[in-house]
Amino acid sequence: AFAQNQLTISTSSENVIIDKHIYGHFAEHLGRCIYDGIYVGEKNTKIPNQKGIRNDLVDALKKLKIPNLRWPGGCFADTYHWKDGIGPKGKRPSMVNTWWGGVTEDNSFGTHDFLDLCERLGAEPYLAGNVGSGTVQELTEWVQYVNFEGKSPMSNLRQENGRAKPWNVKYWGVGNEAWGCGGNMKPEYYANEYRKYATFMPDGNGAKLFRIASGANSADYNWTEVLMRDIPHELLAGVALHHYSVTNWQKKGPSTEFDEKQYFGTMKQALFMEELVQKHSAIMDKYDPKKKIALVVDEWGGWYEVEPGTNPGFLYQQNTIRDAMIAGVTLNIFHNHADRIRMANLAQVVNVLQSVILTKGEKMILTPTYHVMEMYNVHQDATLLPVQLKSNDYAFESDKLKAVSASASKDKSGLTHVSLVNIDPKKEQDITVDLKGMNLKTVSGRVLSSGKLQDYNTFENPNKIHPVTFNGASLSGNQLKVKLPPASVVVLELK
Ligand code: AHR
Repeated sequence: AFAQNQLTISTSSENVIIDKHIYGHFAEHLGRCIYDGIYVGEKNTKIPNQKGIRNDLVDALKKLKIPNLRWPGGCFADTYHWKDGIGPKGKRPSMVNTWWGGVTEDNSFGTHDFLDLCERLGAEPYLAGNVGSGTVQELTEWVQYVNFEGKSPMSNLRQENGRAKPWNVKYWGVGNEAWGCGGNMKPEYYANEYRKYATFMPDGNGAKLFRIASGANSADYNWTEVLMRDIPHELLAGVALHHYSVTNWQKKGPSTEFDEKQYFGTMKQALFMEELVQKHSAIMDKYDPKKKIALVVDEWGGWYEVEPGTNPGFLYQQNTIRDAMIAGVTLNIFHNHADRIRMANLAQVVNVLQSVILTKGEKMILTPTYHVMEMYNVHQDATLLPVQLKSNDYAFESDKLKAVSASASKDKSGLTHVSLVNIDPKKEQDITVDLKGMNLKTVSGRVLSSGKLQDYNTFENPNKIHPVTFNGASLSGNQLKVKLPPASVVVLELK
């Protein structure tokens, strides 16, 4: 028997804003993310670029309205010495990228290149400082180099390198995955390191730095507990969390040729974000009941085996309708917890893990994940409308998940947007939506879906998957009826 899904959307007096920074991205010196993906160099390339940065990538990311970009890692960040990446390119020392493929890093993409990219994108930079193998002095000098207006050793050096005005970087990570590649630290030890490093990262030019502590690995709740307890809150603007949708780290499964069991496992891991956010938030609430400190999910996404024949250290994977499902449900979770989650970063922006863009020489394609993030960006900085949802199950073998996921917001111009996902690959879902006296007159929308879960865009067929007009919604009075196709993402606009 087929039950009806029920969604109630209401206005709230609490006025929670869905921070646009939930739509952040992440660019690490890893595989072909920076080199090839973002930066092709100024010489010997046919790829249109400005100062070595691909124009096609910049245009595509602008359409996405990316609010912030995290760099230079990841694990790489705790091996990175920023002074190696400034000054004349021919004279920069090289290093070995020990975490990612053991390749030589020539440092031709450095601080100026990254911060100029952010300016072109209209995105805020989010710099990850080196705590694992760096020094306090090195990090304090980086802050001075990019943020100090007056005369000082580092701001003078910046000017010698061609940049007069500071960039005023607000977002700073104090290390990355300190529990693992960032130094295998215990939480108490890291909390002390954090206190020390954060103390010597000066606020500048009247702007207060937004310092983010390296956060928990998925369900390591003790990590969050210790950071919230041991770090003075005036030094702490955000606590991070990393969670990847992986069922088995030893056997991650292919990115395209997966079966339904693997799909179900991935969805279960993606939806586990809900429990993670609830439990980490509950710990934060104990120490910070006014929710001044943000939960920053600065790495999330699907992680599979690399594409056959590619370097295992480069983490290059394709991106299917399964990834669109991960993006849709995860962003809905972030919206619905926007009171605490005020920043997030999908891993990673191009050619690495769950990318929005893939490149091959001169060619570039937009992935299903790109399209979800583009459809959803109407929620950026909009007011959250709380939802109550009764969903049918998506059952597989002896297990089950909720088939439908939803979130809603009202933007500054008065438009209401509703995002809906049906993760069930076989059944469509009829949803009755109660709009609680919101007095809306028209509905329109777009949908992303495809014949098969395993479908993806290729360099030969780049537009196989793209959003199209959605005709499955009808409004009468306060009641909206929606028919969601199997494995689909829908964004509705109501006014
Ligand atoms: O995103 C790839 C890697 O995953 C990052 O470098 C690290 O922080 C995480 O383990």
